[in-house]
Amino acid sequence: MVLIGATGGAVENVSAELLAVGLYKGEAPEGLGDAASEVVSSGDFAGKLGDTSLLYGQEQAPRLLLVGLGERESFDLERLRRASATAARRARALKLREAALALPQEAEARETARAAAEGAILGLYRFDRHKSGAESHELETFWLVSGEHDLEQAIEGTDVGQKVASGAVLARDLANEPSNVATPAYLAEKAREVCQRHGMQVTVLDRAGLQEEGLTGLSTVGRSASNEPRFIVLEHRKGGDAAPIVLVGKAVTFDSGGISIKPSSGLEDMKFDMSGGAAVLGAMEALGALDLALNVVALVPATENLPGGDAYKPGDVLKLHSGKTVEIVTTDAEGRLILADALSYARRYEPAAVIDCATLTGACHVALGDHASGLMGNDEGLISEVRAAGEAAGERAWHLPLFEEYTEQIKGDVADIKNSGGRYGGALTAGAFLKEFADYPWAHLDIAGTAYGKKDNAYTPKGATGVPTRLLVEFLLGRAS
Ligand code: BES
Ligand code: MN
Ligand code: ZN
Repeated sequence: MVLIGATGGAVENVSAELLAVGLYKGEAPEGLGDAASEVVSSGDFAGKLGDTSLLYGQEQAPRLLLVGLGERESFDLERLRRASATAARRARALKLREAALALPQEAEARETARAAAEGAILGLYRFDRHKSGAESHELETFWLVSGEHDLEQAIEGTDVGQKVASGAVLARDLANEPSNVATPAYLAEKAREVCQRHGMQVTVLDRAGLQEEGLTGLSTVGRSASNEPRFIVLEHRKGGDAAPIVLVGKAVTFDSGGISIKPSSGLEDMKFDMSGGAAVLGAMEALGALDLALNVVALVPATENLPGGDAYKPGDVLKLHSGKTVEIVTTDAEGRLILADALSYARRYEPAAVIDCATLTGACHVALGDHASGLMGNDEGLISEVRAAGEAAGERAWHLPLFEEYTEQIKGDVADIKNSGGRYGGALTAGAFLKEFADYPWAHLDIAGTAYGKKDNAYTPKGATGVPTRLLVEFLLGRAS
């Protein structure tokens, strides 16, 4: 991972192979030399978000990179993350070892440094460990330049930004791994590593353990898989006797649909069906690095969903961990079964709040596109808090309703409930299903549309995005302060 440094003072005192400076739309640069003035006055560089212009022979640095920030009035930390990623990527493409970015003065240095650090690290992210001829050049250090007086703040922000980003990087790495690597046992191993690094407790239940605990949803979905299911529990206990926050992440390492098998087109993307679990592990990594004074428990039900002679079938009735019975309409609605078990398992912690995240429904992707996760829950205060955390993190979540009628839609014919409410309102009937198992303040994030992408964005290469790792960390930071 690129090292992020902070330095204070005038930009002309920074010696870097490349100095990036943000410019707002329609504004003339000040003190950056004649070429910078000309490239703007000529209209060649308009300062639009994402625009860049690379200038040589300036006195500030051997290379001066102007990076558009868009309209000054619209400036926010998300724009800075993107601009920072653009600068860092350009420096790497030029095969430089070091580059610097002048932090804009429009917000507190602690916040700008944090955002710029996140943007650079996440923008430089590549998943190439399976490529033999992988591009090997890495940018070694990315300097963030603050004013002399707020260097202390910039250093703090840089540190937080690196720790938050390290969590998102772990989440991306886990989610990008193919299902033949990222098996439930592999995720358990990675969870152990997180716990070892940060002094957390870890418990891993295997097939026998699941049966003993009565985690029937998870053991049933995982019954036909030769890569055995795991139930992974991580505990960060740094909050005295305060009620814990519980994070739950769906980790279906490959979702074929099971007996209700999915069409083959795009099926390879179902390796990403463990993105919720990956994000929860990523959030625990960041939490441990930040060493927040909180009690946080992470629950990751991990399994494959495959057809087989021993597979569960449509029409089957299961008695889940909570004691409720479920009629299986489709074996492709497996996520809610394993989450239901985790949600009722969470009761033993008498949690202050529970947030689950899951690539749960194609319907949520249809409803919100790629740009927001679906947010549901049973507590208005918690929902607002999660929504605000997503906004601050640049990982948006949008509140969707859980009207009683959605619960009506999943009433069972021969059991208490059924695992599908049909096509209409698919994200909401899935949410209504989970609601049956949450008797504490609870929020649910459907990340089917946001956890991975088909195209490269400013600081998110195609593939796993790490969403909602940074949202979860932001939420925890809020609870810790
Ligand atoms: N993992 C899928 C949801 C999904 C679909 C995530 C596409 C990302 C992209 C989930 O297990 C599933 O199959 N959901 C079904 C539910 C339905 C059968 C009630 C769906 O969305 O079609
Ligand atoms: Mn499915
Ligand atoms: Zn699934």
